[in-house]
Amino acid sequence: MHTPAITGSGVFTPPHSISNAELVTAFNAYADRFNAQNAAAIDAGTQVALAHSSEEFIFKASGIEQRYVMTRDGILDPAVMHPILPERADAEPSVMAEMALDAALKALAQAGRDPAEVDLVICAASNLERAYPAVAIEIQSLLGAGGMAFDMNVACSSATFGLQAAADMIRSGSVRCALIVNPEICSAHLEWRDRDCHFIFGDVATAMVVERKGDAKGAHFEVLSTRCATQFSNNIRNNNGFLRRSHIGAMQDRRDMQFMQNGRKVFKEVLPMVSQHIANHMADEGVAADDLSRLWLHQANKTMNDFIGKKVLGRTPAAGEQPNILQDYANTSSAGSIIAFSKYSDDLEEGSTGLICSFGAGYSVGSALLRRCS
Ligand code: COA
Repeated sequence: MHTPAITGSGVFTPPHSISNAELVTAFNAYADRFNAQNAAAIDAGTQVALAHSSEEFIFKASGIEQRYVMTRDGILDPAVMHPILPERADAEPSVMAEMALDAALKALAQAGRDPAEVDLVICAASNLERAYPAVAIEIQSLLGAGGMAFDMNVACSSATFGLQAAADMIRSGSVRCALIVNPEICSAHLEWRDRDCHFIFGDVATAMVVERKGDAKGAHFEVLSTRCATQFSNNIRNNNGFLRRSHIGAMQDRRDMQFMQNGRKVFKEVLPMVSQHIANHMADEGVAADDLSRLWLHQANKTMNDFIGKKVLGRTPAAGEQPNILQDYANTSSAGSIIAFSKYSDDLEEGSTGLICSFGAGYSVGSALLRRCS
């Protein structure tokens, strides 16, 4: 058995951003347009008028200040309200592969690894650009990597579930150098016309290199242990899928073919689930709250993270102990905790212990206990 270690990580940040002010202006223009177009039905009481969104609400309810997107085209146009990404020819790299490649090369550079040394690529993300061939296999080809590659989807927990899969394979010896990539184009499944959620998501890609601790060329994070759990819930759901054409009426512009959530219920049900999951994981590994130097949490909501941080540490986390990136990136699904890890881990002293935890649709929750080593 080998000890797995994260030897490199990387983040691809899209070139465009949208502030809350820009987002709210676009949404309110859309709402006014919708209400004008449906004035008769609204007057007759058969259609509910759309209310305006507000910057104050968004910041207070979520902590989000802006989000990055692959394109602004369409999103801020009240007549469109979704991103417009030109379709690519089969011979061109897909958008997800291109984003993942950028993050992967940064992670490999940090690990001091040549892409050809990779023998496992896992593309773990909430949405996949096509049914097949696997995006991971395309990334493997673009990298010139060997071995095998596969896609997996556990929504917001995809990265930690991917980390567990890779770490277990490193442990058993079936692979030697694994790459986990999380390209998330959340802007494409977000319903920008729904004020309850139009502010939630952003786009990004993250990557991690996982290999044998003994192979690490420099500072790394030993993977002490991982833990993943799931529990079925319909409170976060998207009904889009390959059976869509087979269901009469499902090809229409239907709300349930984008991201939907019952935010309040998610909040209430996921918080205790995650807090208990982390507490059990730490207790089973003999890690006390005082032993934890850093928490890299899923980046959905600031209040949620404040609550979990306090519950796990038994006190309010000190500045920097539980870094948030959601104010800049919004919720980037599976990539959020890995952005926090990638940006806020280099300063940890040798021997420090940290915990990555992601959670979301499924429900799903995944955690990894890591130790900094030089
Ligand atoms: N602007 C202004 N008002 C808004 C608004 C907006 N953009 N969106 C909703 N509101 C209103 C609601 O209509 C509601 O009004 P009411 O009280 O008159 O009914 C009020 O603000 C509160 O809405 P609510 O949806 O209860 O807000 P919230 O405090 O629960 O915050 C979320 C919403 C989504 C930020 C929060 O529920 C959340 O983060 N949940 C967990 C999300 C999560 O982790 N999801 C995982 C996804 S991967």
